Amino acid sequence: MRLIIATNRAPYDVKKPRDEVIIEKSPGGLVAALDPVMKGNDGIWVCGGEKLFEDYGIELPYPVKQVKLNKNENKHYYEGFCNTQIWPLFHYFPTRYKLHTKDWDFYKQVNQKFANQILEIIEPEDRIWVHDYQLMLLPKLLREKGVKNKIGFFLHIPFPNLEIYRIFPKRIEILESLINCDLIGFHTESYKKHFLECVNYFLIGQAELKDNQILYNERISKVEALPISIDFQEIQKIAVADKTESILAELKETFSGQIIGLGVDRLDYTKGVIEKFEGLEYFLDKNPEYIKKISFIQIAVPSRSNVQEYIKIKKRTDEIVGRINGKFSRDGWSPIHYIYSNLKFDEIVAYYRLADFIIVSALRDGLNLVAKEYVASRINNGGQLILSEFTGVAEEIPYKYLINPYDVTSISNSISQVIKTEEEQKDTIMKELRNYVEQNDIYKWLDSFLEKLD
Ligand code: F6P
Repeated sequence: MRLIIATNRAPYDVKKPRDEVIIEKSPGGLVAALDPVMKGNDGIWVCGGEKLFEDYGIELPYPVKQVKLNKNENKHYYEGFCNTQIWPLFHYFPTRYKLHTKDWDFYKQVNQKFANQILEIIEPEDRIWVHDYQLMLLPKLLREKGVKNKIGFFLHIPFPNLEIYRIFPKRIEILESLINCDLIGFHTESYKKHFLECVNYFLIGQAELKDNQILYNERISKVEALPISIDFQEIQKIAVADKTESILAELKETFSGQIIGLGVDRLDYTKGVIEKFEGLEYFLDKNPEYIKKISFIQIAVPSRSNVQEYIKIKKRTDEIVGRINGKFSRDGWSPIHYIYSNLKFDEIVAYYRLADFIIVSALRDGLNLVAKEYVASRINNGGQLILSEFTGVAEEIPYKYLINPYDVTSISNSISQVIKTEEEQKDTIMKELRNYVEQNDIYKWLDSFLEKLD
């Protein structure tokens, strides 16, 4: 049975430095999770793109069909409806939400293009798996064309509570589409609960709820909480590869004698990068004995750089790095090492191995795979995870030391605490985390989703 995956984001980006054409794995959790899924399955990945792989004669590790999106579609569908309307609202930032009525028409148009592409390739036994908030109208558009195949949907971002979801002008249209799926998956029980509450509230009289199922149009949609994961074994392999070891050796030399903190985030206002730096500043203010002793490396992956809110966050991040480094730097040492780049994965794994602790300070995050990647990379245990209570992963993993990233003292106290933790205790905590992530890897997630879909 083939699996047709539909995502807005293509798994690889085409780059043209000088005369060569190269491809790089796209940033973000969705691609990180689905790339191994597709490598191990018979299927087709349907995705969007301004530049098409076939135009460059690029071969990918699995069949990909691209839906060509033009500049206007990118502006109003991707930058507009997806990332200036749905994204801020679903992440509890209503003040960053901006309504442009035109965006909705483009959202419908692009979802229709995806439907047309799937209709061209679909065979009776195929299963369709639609991903994320960019394609929420697709299930309904496919059913309207008579598609009887199993359709699954997975939301990679939070599903907000009723009070926030009410703000969304297209709240009914989106629910009416999603309930055409046989299975609707979320990362956490909370998102699932919010979704069911919204269906109950907005589709009263149309859809009937029974346990975790929605009865609609003689169809049953199951709703499940299935937190996504990572390819644990593959990351372990990368962690011990020669290339990673040699990058790590160089990093150890550069940062010799320092306590190393790390952050790895797409540069997004939801990730709390600024709040993390403010927490670090507070820590150094209160604990000046650590000046010159701690280096915080922040890898910020460029993201959505044409969207206003992202242009602003980039500017503010640059400013705060400059301000904090200006305040504490001395004798060639500065507290923050800021890398604004989409680094190769083995480089990131080397940083994961190097870091004494990582801070995941998201103000709201669907799940956060960086936390799981860090754990998978810690082949010799040790290392510590400072984790925001507003991430999906905080609801999932067996971990008790959470921070409130809105509170500088919470971040600062967590740094003090991780620095003072005994090696033995660090190892015990990391072993437990590693065990959990190893048992609950991306393949388990895939199997559970497909099992429930079938
Ligand atoms: O987690 C939500 C998400 O849209 C994922 O689909 C993706 O991995 C990430 O954010 C990056 O977003 P974009 O595709 O807009 O770069």
